Amino acid sequence: MGELLSASVLQLLQCPTCGGALSLGRQRHPDLECVCGSRYPFIDGIVDLTPRQKVATPGTYRTETLLDMIAGSYDVFAPAMSIGVWRCSPLRYVDSENRALGRGNGGVYLKSPIGTGVVLDNCLADYHDVTIICVDSSLKMLRKAQRKLRNHPQEVVYLKVDAAQMPLRDGVIDSAQSFNGIHAAEDRDAFLSELLRVVKPGGFVSGSSLVRSEEPIADALLDRLERHGVFPMMRSASYLIEELRRLECHKFHHSVHGAVVFFDLEKD
Ligand SMILES: C[S@@+](CC[C@H](N)C(=O)[O-])C[C@H]1O[C@@H](n2cnc3c(N)ncnc32)[C@H](O)[C@@H]1O
Ligand SMILES: [Zn+2]
Repeated sequence: MGELLSASVLQLLQCPTCGGALSLGRQRHPDLECVCGSRYPFIDGIVDLTPRQKVATPGTYRTETLLDMIAGSYDVFAPAMSIGVWRCSPLRYVDSENRALGRGNGGVYLKSPIGTGVVLDNCLADYHDVTIICVDSSLKMLRKAQRKLRNHPQEVVYLKVDAAQMPLRDGVIDSAQSFNGIHAAEDRDAFLSELLRVVKPGGFVSGSSLVRSEEPIADALLDRLERHGVFPMMRSASYLIEELRRLECHKFHHSVHGAVVFFDLEKD
């Protein structure tokens, strides 16, 4: 069992349904169990910590289906889309990842969402002394990340979650990174407040989000996706920046590159 989840990682987790402590079941193929009766299975080394009561709404369902479908080819088309549609150099993600990893060094680094882990794989070096928690709602994305990151020496944990109901205790994360997941969240307030909740006071939060009204070609694609029930309403850069400014934080920085807002902040 040790190879699936170490005792120190188990200490960081909580039941996404009731917030209670989780323990390992006693079966031959154990689940994670909570006193509220919820059980969370391991699927090929990934823990499915999706809250039991979650029923996908039609919008979420379509977004999740699309992201599952593109997981296989994501690494090839994401950099091309970044340059051609979002008009943002992929190297911006590399800079942001390096900074966030550095802030997590010696502690726990959260990737919410991990996607396929393409940027992390390229930035993670042997000298990074971090435990990495990768969360995503797509099992296919998590599987891709798991295959990619398995040769790194760090302890890496994969959790299938709804990032708006994070199965992590308060203040256990040193650095949290969120690339391009905020715009896909059905409940952006919950997504952001959960990201802040799990970070320690003085901890680092950074990431990016696609936004409207910066690039006509990006707007054309986002309009089309939204008309097909994929992603919720996307906001302008200034709207998102205001939302981020209202979070309990200081040292808030942001910049807009094409249709992508990058941000970082420290939790008070
Ligand atoms: C466009 S991808 C970005 C992936 C990655 N961060 C990157 O930049 O390479 C968006 C990711 O967010 C995940 N996602 C969307 N909504 C989510 C939610 N509510 N909880 C967890 N993950 C979510 C999707 O499954 C997908 O992997
Ligand atoms: Zn519970």
